[in-house]
Amino acid sequence: MNASASAPLAPDAPWVVLKFGGTSVATVERWRTILQLAAARRAEGARVLVVVSALSGITDALKALCACAPIERADALAKIIERHRALAAQMQLAHTAEMDRWLASLQALVVAAAPEQLRWQATVQAHGELLSSSLGAAFMAANGLPTTWIDAREALLAREVPFLNERARVLSAQVQAEPDPALASALAARGEVFISQGFIARDGDGQTVLLGRGGSDTSAAYFGALLRASRVEIWTDVAGMFTADPRQVPGARLLQRLDYDEAQEIATTGAKVLHARCLSPCRRARVPLWVKDTQHPDLDGTVVAPQPTEVAPSIKAISSRRGITLVSMETSGMWQQVGFLADVFALFKQHGLSVDLIGSAETNVTVSLDPSENLLDSDVVAALAADLAKVCRVKVIAPCAAVTLVGRGMRSMLHRLSGVLAEFGRERVHLISQSSNNLNLTFVVDEAMLDGLLPRLHELLIRAGALRTDDVALFGPSWQALYGGGAELKQVPWWHAQRARLLEVAQATPRYVYHLPTIRERARALRALTSVDRVYYALKANPHPAILRALAEEGIGFECVSPGELAAVDALAEARESPRLFTPNFAPRGDYADALRRGVMLTLDSLHPLQHWPELFAGHEIMLRVDLGRGLGHHDKVRTGGAASKFGLPLDQFDEFLTLARERGLRIAGLHAHLGSGILDAAHWPLVFGQLASLADRIGSVRCLDLGGGLGVPSHPGESELDLAALDTALAEVKRAYPQYGLWLEPGRWLVADAGVLLARVTQTKRKGALNYLGCDAGMHALIRPALYDAWHHIVNLSRLDDAATTLYQVVGPICESGDVLGADRRLPESVEGDVLLIAQAGAYGESMASHYNLRPLAESSVIE
Ligand code: LLP
Repeated sequence: MNASASAPLAPDAPWVVLKFGGTSVATVERWRTILQLAAARRAEGARVLVVVSALSGITDALKALCACAPIERADALAKIIERHRALAAQMQLAHTAEMDRWLASLQALVVAAAPEQLRWQATVQAHGELLSSSLGAAFMAANGLPTTWIDAREALLAREVPFLNERARVLSAQVQAEPDPALASALAARGEVFISQGFIARDGDGQTVLLGRGGSDTSAAYFGALLRASRVEIWTDVAGMFTADPRQVPGARLLQRLDYDEAQEIATTGAKVLHARCLSPCRRARVPLWVKDTQHPDLDGTVVAPQPTEVAPSIKAISSRRGITLVSMETSGMWQQVGFLADVFALFKQHGLSVDLIGSAETNVTVSLDPSENLLDSDVVAALAADLAKVCRVKVIAPCAAVTLVGRGMRSMLHRLSGVLAEFGRERVHLISQSSNNLNLTFVVDEAMLDGLLPRLHELLIRAGALRTDDVALFGPSWQALYGGGAELKQVPWWHAQRARLLEVAQATPRYVYHLPTIRERARALRALTSVDRVYYALKANPHPAILRALAEEGIGFECVSPGELAAVDALAEARESPRLFTPNFAPRGDYADALRRGVMLTLDSLHPLQHWPELFAGHEIMLRVDLGRGLGHHDKVRTGGAASKFGLPLDQFDEFLTLARERGLRIAGLHAHLGSGILDAAHWPLVFGQLASLADRIGSVRCLDLGGGLGVPSHPGESELDLAALDTALAEVKRAYPQYGLWLEPGRWLVADAGVLLARVTQTKRKGALNYLGCDAGMHALIRPALYDAWHHIVNLSRLDDAATTLYQVVGPICESGDVLGADRRLPESVEGDVLLIAQAGAYGESMASHYNLRPLAESSVIE
C-alpha cells in the first residue's frame, strides 16, 4: 500500500467521508479493512476523512467510569488502558505517543473527578474516540498511508438550540453544519487522508460536548456537509436498510436507493441501521449517504440521495415500534370548543412530553407518545393523566405498537392496500394516522398483536403490487439470500434454459409457448399428495390438446364447464377414458343432456334444474355444489362464494334440494365447493373439507368431497409459494375425522400457469411526458388478465436477458383502449423495435381467454415436449 506513490491531489479534489463504528475499529483485522478502503478511495482521486467510534464497549466503560464509586475508578480506568494497549500491541505500533497522551489526559481527568458535572462526563466519554482515532492514525501511517489526525472539536461547533436543557446541550448536542469551503481548503493544505472522531464536538465556550445516540453517524454526516463531500459512507455490519426488520422478516429486501425523506422516515419509525439525525445535514448539503457492509464490501448497500426521476411508485418499508403509549381524551364539550386542544397540549408540554401521532373525532382526541422521544415512566404518564382528568375523560392505553408503512406518495398507493387494511381489520386498531408529508401511514395496535404481523404484511404488500420488489433499481437481494446461506427462494424458471429455442419460435408473434415437462412435474407433485384421492384438471385454464394429453398420461382427470370442453377431452384418445366432471353454472338444459349422454358426472348448483327438468336426472348420480357463504381469491372477479356471487346452492335451500332430489329419484354422490381462484393459504382447503363433511353427514349417500381448485401461484418476486406439504398434512388431519369421504381437487392454474409464456415483439417505443412506452404486438386481446384483474405478469426482454435493467417502461399492446397495459412501471434494459419480450406465467387463463378484439388474429402457440 503506497498512496504517496500516486500523483498528489488537486486542492479542489472531492472529499469522501468514511465512518466506522465500534466493532469495525476493535481489531487489527478490521483496521486493515479500513486502511484498504481509505487507500482505495484516495487512489480513486478523493481526499479522504475517516471518522471513527470508540472501540466497541469503550463508551459504555467510560460511562460506567463516570458513574462508579470513587474507589472503583482506578480499576475501571486500568481496564480501559489495558484494552487500548492490547490493540496497539496487536497493531505492532512502534509509535504510540498520541494514544499515550490521551491515556494520560484521561488519567488526569479521573484524578480530578467531578462526576456530578456534565462537562466532566462529556470530556471523559470523548476519550473513547480520541483514543481510537489516535491508534488508527498511527496504524495507517505505519502501513504506508500517511494520515493526518484532526480533532473533531476544531471543526464541529454545537449550535444554540432554544429550550434545550443543560443535559441535552452537553450530552446530545446538535451541530451547525453548513458547507464551509474555508475549512475544506484549510484541511486540504494539511494532507490527503485524515482521521477524526465521531460523537464529539465543542460548544461556544470551546468545551467538549457529545452528540448523543448514533453520534458517530451524525458526526460523519456533519463532516460530509461541512466539506460538501461527494459522499458519506457509513460502514457497518449490515448491507444497508431493508424493507423490514430482517430478524422478523427474513425475506426483507435490501433497499438500494432511498431519498433522504424516506430514509429519515424509516430511521425514525424503527430501523436501527442509521440514526435519524444523520440524514438532515446530508439532505441540506445534498451529500449522498451510502450504507455499506464492512464484511461484504462488494455489496452495493443502500444509497440515500435525491430522488431519482424514474422509479416505480412503491412502499419502501414497513417498520414497527414497541412501547407506544396512547392517551385518549374524551369530552362531550369539545365539539367546536375553542381552545380545547391548546389547553390539553399545554399539559403535555408541562410534563415534558412530546406527542407523536394524533387522531381526532368529534368528541375525542387520541395521541401517541413514543418512548424513543420521551422519558416515559409510569409516574410521568400518571401525573399527566391526573392533570388531563381536570378537563376531559382520560384513558391511557398501553402497551401499544405502531406499525408504519413508508414510501413517497403514500396516497397514490392507497388503492393497493385493501389486503393490508383487511389484515388490520381483523384486529383492534386504536389509531390510524397518515403523515401530512404523504410519506407514511401508521397503525397503532395492541403490542401483543405485533407477533407474526410484519411477515404477513410484508407478503401482502408484495402480493398487492404495493411493495414493488420487481424494480431491481430500488430493491436488492433479500436478507435471507445475503446472510441466510445464500439460497434464493425461487428456482430459475424453465425459460432461461430455453432462451435460444424461444427466440427461434418468436419469428411469428404473439405466441404462447408451453413447457410440458413443467406441467408433468406439477401433476406428479399433486398426485404425490397422500391425502388427495383424485385430481381433476380445470381445463378452462388452458385446453391445449398437448396439455390435456400430458395430464391424462399423468393420471389426472378433467373438470369441464361446457359441451365444448367435454368435446375437447373426448376428441383425444389419450384423455377420453379419464374421469371427467361437468361443473357448469347457469348452463342451458341441453348442456346437461349432452353431459349425461357422454356419461359424465355432473354438478348442480341450483334448484332450477330439479324443479324444471326432473326427467333429465331421474336415476342418475349427481354432485351438489354449495355456497359456503364466503369467497376467496386474487381478485373480486374470481371469488366465487358469498351472497354477491352467482355460484353454488345457498345453504338455506339445502334441505329443499335434498327433498326434491329424493322425490325425483336422484342420488347425491358428492358435495362440491369452489370458493375462488388464486389462493395461497394452505389452511383454506382443510376448512372447506370440514364444512362439506358435516353437510355430507346429513345426506347419507355422499362418497366424495370436491374442494374445488383455486391453488394459487405467487406472481411477484419474493412472494411465498403455496405450501403443498402443509396442505397435505392438514388435509390428512381433517380426513382422519371423516375417513368415509374421498377427497377431490380440481386445480387449473397451479398445473399450467408457470409452464406457459407469451412471446411478443416490440413494435414501437414512445416517450410521452415522464413516461416511456414500450409497445408490443401482444395486447389485451392476447392476454387480458392485466386489464381485467390488474394481474401481475413478470416481463423480461428475452433478446437482452443479460443486460442491466435500466429503463422504466409502460409495456403496452396495440389495442384501442387505455387499459391495454401488460405491465406498468417495469424496469427493463433499453429496448428497441424487434426485441422479443417474454411475458411470464401465462400458461393459465392466457390463451384460453384471448379474443379477436379489434379483429386482431389469435395468438399462435407452440409446445416444448
Ligand atoms: N373449479 C371450478 C368450479 C372453477 O370455477 C375453477 C375456476 C376452477 C376449478 C379452477 O380454478 P384454479 O385452480 O384455476 O384457480 N380467469 C381467472 C381465473 C378464473 C377461474 C374460474 N374458475 C384468472 O385468470 O385469474
